[in-house]
Amino acid sequence: MQKVVEEGLEFIINEGVFYNPEMRLSRAISLEVLRELSKKHELKVLDAFSASGIRGVLYKKSSPNIRVDFLDYSEKAVKNIEENLKKHKIKGKIIRKEFNEFICNTKENYNFIELDPFGSSVEYLKPALKKLAENKLSWLSVTNTDLQVLCGVERRACLKFYQSYQKNNYFCHETGIRILLKKIATEASEENLVIKPLISFYYRHQFKCIVELRKDGKNAHKNYEKISYLKESELGGKFSKCGEIGPLWKENIAEIGLIKKILERLKKGKREGKLKGIEKKKIILLERLWEENEERFKDKIFYSIPHISKKLKINPPSLKEISEKIIRKGFGFARTHFTPDGFKTDANEEIIKEAFLRTKK
Ligand SMILES: C[S@@+](CC[C@H](N)C(=O)[O-])C[C@H]1O[C@@H](n2cnc3c(N)ncnc32)[C@H](O)[C@@H]1O
Repeated sequence: MQKVVEEGLEFIINEGVFYNPEMRLSRAISLEVLRELSKKHELKVLDAFSASGIRGVLYKKSSPNIRVDFLDYSEKAVKNIEENLKKHKIKGKIIRKEFNEFICNTKENYNFIELDPFGSSVEYLKPALKKLAENKLSWLSVTNTDLQVLCGVERRACLKFYQSYQKNNYFCHETGIRILLKKIATEASEENLVIKPLISFYYRHQFKCIVELRKDGKNAHKNYEKISYLKESELGGKFSKCGEIGPLWKENIAEIGLIKKILERLKKGKREGKLKGIEKKKIILLERLWEENEERFKDKIFYSIPHISKKLKINPPSLKEISEKIIRKGFGFARTHFTPDGFKTDANEEIIKEAFLRTKK
């Protein structure tokens, strides 16, 4: 047995029950999204794939507007959840069942479902969306760790499970998360749900997406209008009606209005230089997401400094040098959370090339 502290709360983690400290940032960001949502909505959450119950307890403790039920098919996990609920004096149903079996048969109404299985969430998407479609407005939160598939190392598996062509190149994490969003969007359409990605990001070995779902049979086909292909271009990639990567989600992967609100709350009364640990990581990630999801970059994929430098056979310039040259020409420039040496811009590739060549030493 070990004890861990997250968000100032102590949790018991028993032998044989899943706990990964690498998922801490993912839990912390999801928690911030829930905090915002619960200001306006009563949330009935199913923390499916609960393990120790840490995620659900954090959610429940964050707002009186959040109710949480916990589900896991493992006996050890269920016992561990009981201990953590008791420790934090929380009431919530604990269900020991296989997710799909439970969700397809329950009469409970959930408007927020958390899918955090090992590997892929694909086989749980449809049943979760069917349940959420009982609401006018609901949310689906998904964690995927099948990055080998989504990033195109296992291309055939990507085609089989996600019905998308993928390439394992420098931007595969961005196209991978967009393939996952496309999968959610197409499954959602069939349930008359219109999707809006609230937050999507890549961190270490995981993709995290939280999407808003609005029941609207007349407009559910519009999810498809936000799906496209990607063509490799001279310096990077461009969305296009046909291309060798996709289909994939082509619009923003996060909602900057929401991110702005979270950032304002997190930064309030705090001196940025003093922030450290998870607080600092949260802010850096949210700031990058804000920048790269600005309207002007909505259908852009990030460029990579090492990739372009190699193509142009020059020494890689710094991000600062490139940003100055592109901004001076009157175009937008954003850093990306996908990599520290990547950027987004609405400048065309001639301008980008010129900016690189002008830094040539
Ligand atoms: C990756 S862990 C979840 C981690 C947890 N959400 C957290 O933040 O620490 C996956 C958990 O889901 C459970 N699980 C896997 N597949 C399941 C299924 N089909 N139905 C119910 N539980 C499942 C496993 O027993 C395991 O405890």
